[in-house]
Amino acid sequence: MNTGEVKIAHLSDLHVSGRKDHRQLEDLDRMLDHLNTAGFDHLVISGDLSNTANSGDWGVVKEKLEKHGRYHWEKTTVIAGNHDLINLEEEMRFYNALNPLPLLRKKAFDRKLANFCRYFRELITGEEGGTPIYPFVKIINYPSVRIAITAFNSVFPWYPADNPLGARGEVDQKQLDAFSSESLLSTLRECFVIGLCHHAYKVYGTDSLIDQAFDWTMELKNREAFLDLMITLHARVVLHGHFHRFQSYVVKDLTFINGGSFRIIPKQYSELIVDGKGGFTQRFIMLP
Ligand SMILES: [Fe+2]
Ligand SMILES: [Fe+2]
Repeated sequence: MNTGEVKIAHLSDLHVSGRKDHRQLEDLDRMLDHLNTAGFDHLVISGDLSNTANSGDWGVVKEKLEKHGRYHWEKTTVIAGNHDLINLEEEMRFYNALNPLPLLRKKAFDRKLANFCRYFRELITGEEGGTPIYPFVKIINYPSVRIAITAFNSVFPWYPADNPLGARGEVDQKQLDAFSSESLLSTLRECFVIGLCHHAYKVYGTDSLIDQAFDWTMELKNREAFLDLMITLHARVVLHGHFHRFQSYVVKDLTFINGGSFRIIPKQYSELIVDGKGGFTQRFIMLP
């Protein structure tokens, strides 16, 4: 039935740790079953699929999406999180032993990001040819509305002084510049635009001093430049994860939705409903 609404589910921060964590795999089955039964048109996973940058964990997610009929370009979008690209222990070991040069480390990081994009090619380009890469724009024409998902990599490589926990983020200039074409901008003007990245615009959710002391290690370094681009694109919502709290907040009329962490609360997800008139509603849902 065409109700004129598009239903988008948002999960984040699965932190899958191998195939032996049966409980989490069952949780994932239950969630994907629910999303199908509830008739969600699209699922967005905003990064940290793996806990230790292990492509075997990406495989777990891919298989589960396939099993539930979700492994299709128009059905699911995934992006990488820092835990998909940075293995902190390994970075420190190689930094001390073999790999002190930032340039080499950046190259290794770029390779890992390219691997992620190739691995999930179907969910990024939807076709065999071409190089799947960030940023990407996915425009899906539903009967009542055109939805454009503009997806960015916000993971910043590990550096000992600037990014000691590997958790800081940045949307690099090259990605921001990719949206300068007037024809792309005019296409996006006809769409309900959703921004997507892993890192939070705003990381603190409490007044706790301990939380605030760690803010800088989690932050999106150039968040104002990213916000400016989102406003230029007339984005209505930005979906992200990283900071493991389910929350929504508004900055300059733009709604940010933090998809929390499936690892920590596997029964909760965010529901975004877009209507045919340019409006939307969002709420967090807890499975029974
Ligand atoms: Fe995470
Ligand atoms: Fe993260």
